[in-house]
Amino acid sequence: MMGLYRVEESVPLSERVFQLWIRAPHIARHAGAGQFLVIRINEHGERIPLTISAVKGDLVRVIFMTVGKTTTQLATLGAGDTIRDIVGPLGKPTEVKAYGTCAVVGGGVGIAGAPIIARALRGKGNRVIGILGARSAPFMILEDEMRGSCDEVLVATDDGTMGRKGFAADLLREVIAREHLDATWIIGPAIMMKVTSEVTRPLGIRTFVSLNPIMVDGTGMCGSCRVMVGGKTRFACVDGPEFDAHQVDFDGLMSRQRMYVDEEKRAMEHLHAGQCGAGR
Ligand SMILES: Cc1cc2nc3c(=O)[nH]c(=O)nc-3n(C[C@H](O)[C@H](O)[C@H](O)COP(=O)(O)OP(=O)(O)OC[C@H]3O[C@@H](n4cnc5c(N)ncnc54)[C@H](O)[C@@H]3O)c2cc1C
Ligand code: FES
Repeated sequence: MMGLYRVEESVPLSERVFQLWIRAPHIARHAGAGQFLVIRINEHGERIPLTISAVKGDLVRVIFMTVGKTTTQLATLGAGDTIRDIVGPLGKPTEVKAYGTCAVVGGGVGIAGAPIIARALRGKGNRVIGILGARSAPFMILEDEMRGSCDEVLVATDDGTMGRKGFAADLLREVIAREHLDATWIIGPAIMMKVTSEVTRPLGIRTFVSLNPIMVDGTGMCGSCRVMVGGKTRFACVDGPEFDAHQVDFDGLMSRQRMYVDEEKRAMEHLHAGQCGAGR
């Protein structure tokens, strides 16, 4: 069946990370920093949420890592291919205000969502310090774009093959030791967001994290994205995805992320066997 959204460009950015520019004028017109899309490649596919990483005219950009069936299928699309459904922009946009000095911290593929937030904050007159962390140099993405979007950018890799040897949390600690921060955004794997947000907690620095629980409909109907924030149940798709980092129950989030591991494994096995089913 003919899809409705045309892929204009597909580029590998690093090992297992891909960038797609997709023509979606009505989404591009309304998209804000911090929001996301729900994508279904074809009528038999499962829906997956991906952050809106950039907007250019009628085009929206997504950047994703191949971790399972749908992201692996998405990585096979090239210019001219089409995507069946895209819903968005979803979620609440980033709270962009004049804070003063802000840090925007991206870890791994979470860096995908960092430049659009940095640019929005800078557009409000904030001084923005970008902090990027990746496992190793081949996994670092969007460094140049972050340099163009921030006043200063600091880079770390776990193995020291690019920038400082260490973690984004170490660089954030150094920034806080040298100057006052008014607000911080952290986007990355749940464990990275948990550890990194502990750096700002003792100083009471306002800190936002962009949560990535399992999502199905993305519209607040199914409850699969529920997370505990400040002791209350919140739905990341409609109440978030950005929340006050110091209120988030990260252990609960991580345990719910592992809920479908067996189903996800089976879906990948079917994909490899050439029997793509209808998803979970
Ligand atoms: C608001 C939001 C924004 C996101 N933005 C990005 C992005 O910009 N780039 C990117 O690479 N990834 C992003 N993710 C994660 C992405 O949605 C999952 O990697 C994707 O759904 C995996 O689908 P799959 O079929 O390839 O893998 P699966 O086989 O379904 O799962 C493989 C792994 O991904 C995790 N996962 C599965 N489904 C989801 C889901 N719906 N949400 C979160 N994690 C899931 C599982 O825990 C598992 O470890 C985002 C998630 C959320 C909630
Ligand atoms: S994804 Fe269904 S309620 Fe949020």
